[in-house]
Amino acid sequence: MTHQSDASLPDRHPVEGPAVETAYTALYNWSYAPEIEEIRSLYANGLERQWIAMRDLDWDAEIDREAFTQTFSMGGIPISETAFWKSLPLETRWEVSKVSASFMLSNFLHGEQGALMVAGQLVSAVPDMDAKLYAATQTLDEARHVEAFAAYIDKLDHVFPITPGLKALLDSVISAPDWKFKAVGMQIVIEGLALYLFRDMRTQTVEPLLKKLLTYVSRDEARHTGYGIRYLGHVVPRLGESETRELQDFAFESTRLLMASRVGSAMRDDIMAVWENAGVDPDDVLVRLASERDIIAENLNRTGGRYGPVSGFIIPTLRRIGLYSERTAGQFKQMWTETQGAEAAARYASSSVELPDDLERWVNEGG
Ligand SMILES: [Fe+2]
Ligand SMILES: [Fe+2]
Repeated sequence: MTHQSDASLPDRHPVEGPAVETAYTALYNWSYAPEIEEIRSLYANGLERQWIAMRDLDWDAEIDREAFTQTFSMGGIPISETAFWKSLPLETRWEVSKVSASFMLSNFLHGEQGALMVAGQLVSAVPDMDAKLYAATQTLDEARHVEAFAAYIDKLDHVFPITPGLKALLDSVISAPDWKFKAVGMQIVIEGLALYLFRDMRTQTVEPLLKKLLTYVSRDEARHTGYGIRYLGHVVPRLGESETRELQDFAFESTRLLMASRVGSAMRDDIMAVWENAGVDPDDVLVRLASERDIIAENLNRTGGRYGPVSGFIIPTLRRIGLYSERTAGQFKQMWTETQGAEAAARYASSSVELPDDLERWVNEGG
């Protein structure tokens, strides 16, 4: 076969792994006047707050390595305040932290790709015109997040594969036939966790490029979560009992998958390999860290522990939109009991954090 080759257009389009079959109902809406004022104003805000990743951030600047290693967390365990971590040479700290940060940021990046696809689906799937317009702005926001996280990881190390739990969750949201399930899975659960973690990382990091990147990204995510809360808060109270129950179960199951994706033996092995490659014996690391477990526990408590994002954000959000019942509370408590023990479960279950009214202000409060 002969054809004019154009070097700028690839002949082959990469397909990575099995595709996800999805079928959802696309809805036209012939009424164009603003109807849900709260969502129309979010759309206007989304337009107003656009930014351009490649122009507005300084990608030529080298990452400040010393600053970057000051807030290191090892698979979610904050160890940067330990004497052990501080005793390591900068070169070792940089080697370990850049690779493990790439692992974590890679999953954020893959999550952003999932968000990009779901936001695009919502343009067709949501019934209200205001909600379609808004979803279009979110689609562009998520495209920018994919671009920006990929560029930052490129300065650190390389992109790691997605964890199986996160992949399973994205598949279930992308293939959900009903837009309400997509909105619960993406706008409430995934966006809620992302906003919580981005805010936390933004507050803690002193690396200038990462801080600026997360400031822009979390501002967008605050709007995305705000959309879920306003739209579903409007829709859920009008649903019948059985549909409400199904949405509650989907929210719980999505949260369970998301939390499971953040741990696992594969991840522990990866982290241990990182230490070994940096020339530190992983067994030594464990012994040294065990002797400083009080300092680590103190740091972990500051961010609410492993389930901080769930009890401190996702559950308050579900409560606000009417998807948290006594039955749901029982499901969460059982999950905590199985994974963390009865004492921790009781502590999480009794936490009654209020959802902040102004999410963007809440992001900025971190400093
Ligand atoms: Fe995003
Ligand atoms: Fe988002």
